[in-house]
Amino acid sequence: MSSLCQKRVIVGVTGGIAAYKIPELVRRLRDAGSVVRVVMTANAEQFITPLTLQAVSGQPVHRSNLLDSDAESAMNHIELARWADVVLIAPASADFIARMAHGLADDLLSTLCLATEASIVIAPAMNQRMWLHTATQDNVAVLVNRGIVVFGPASGSQACGETGPGRMPEPAELTESLAALYGTRALAHTKVVITAGPTHEAIDPVRNITNRSSGKMGYAVAQAAGEADADVVLVSGPTQLPCPDGVHGIRVTSALEMYQAVMNEVSDADVFIGVAAVADYRPVEFHKQKIKKTSEQLTIKLIRNPDILATVAGLDDPPYTVGFAAETHNVEAHARAKLMRKGVDMIAANRVGDVDIGLESDENELIILDRAGAKSLPRTFKLQLARNLIKEIAIRYRAESTNKNSRRAHR
Ligand code: C5P
Repeated sequence: MSSLCQKRVIVGVTGGIAAYKIPELVRRLRDAGSVVRVVMTANAEQFITPLTLQAVSGQPVHRSNLLDSDAESAMNHIELARWADVVLIAPASADFIARMAHGLADDLLSTLCLATEASIVIAPAMNQRMWLHTATQDNVAVLVNRGIVVFGPASGSQACGETGPGRMPEPAELTESLAALYGTRALAHTKVVITAGPTHEAIDPVRNITNRSSGKMGYAVAQAAGEADADVVLVSGPTQLPCPDGVHGIRVTSALEMYQAVMNEVSDADVFIGVAAVADYRPVEFHKQKIKKTSEQLTIKLIRNPDILATVAGLDDPPYTVGFAAETHNVEAHARAKLMRKGVDMIAANRVGDVDIGLESDENELIILDRAGAKSLPRTFKLQLARNLIKEIAIRYRAESTNKNSRRAHR
């Protein structure tokens, strides 16, 4: 059964040439089992008639005038806001995005966006210069920070004759992404590779260098990804934890083994999540026999381990890549620097040290950062936190892969 079955979707249409594709979008959403109501701005009506959208949606179309007493008595704007499971604004014009970013409420659609508790998704469509303009980019960043999901825009030839980013993703892609996003199976048909636990860097047969890590967070992330229907491969350093049901576990000991196992698995992965506390250095030399404590001082020479996360992020066609950052201070600033330095799509950061969460504890809290901004995932048990994190990753991965596919299709 499609995850859009019985979903109540408001399609908000704003003024842009891509509005001509909306009847097909509405038809596809209905084919997937959704009940669709269309809300149009005044400018949208310059591109497509309410009658057309009424015919394809099978519902009266809601027009822009907030003060229309007939329309308000049939279903007022608050009822409409409460009715929706999802508000999909397609096409979302530069003007409408700006109005949303500022919280304006001067017509039905903008008012609805403020009044609804439903998830809001926008599919921007506009001239490529308008899309790339700092004002639009800033406005979109504001919306992303508020939890609004952005699908597209795709790149390609535009109605205005230019070529670049600004095309609305095709109706079939929008429908598919929405289904994936709001299904319980948010990561269906994806392969997710996760690292967890510490690594042990052997000094001699009985001693090693390691990091503090129980593996609980990585195992919880693997379980949550499995619950979201992904094919999960968990590459784990030494821990006491059982591999979650349905997850393919690969046990390793050292950072080099973890690196090799990840490289073997990652080429066809859609998402990579590096939760492991990988040892940054390993002893240059492994002593085959136990080192005897004969001298007062002992020097062990160390050499850098490969950075697994940065290597994955640097692949030619990398998966959606998520790193973890455990910081003792200035969490957000250090995490943002790591996001850039390692070239990853997202960093999930938490504070460790003088706090009673993280590391070996059962609870944790995270700040997630990507290029669009930061969001807090409040303190809770690691499995619940992992589920919340997987939801955020799925939303961003789906949005990203919609863009990737659109870019490929229009090349
Ligand atoms: O550089 P730092 O160790 O602080 O970065 C932490 C993130 O990088 C974690 O996601 C961790 O799994 C990953 N990492 C890695 N390989 C290393 C070191 C860290 O994948 N050698």
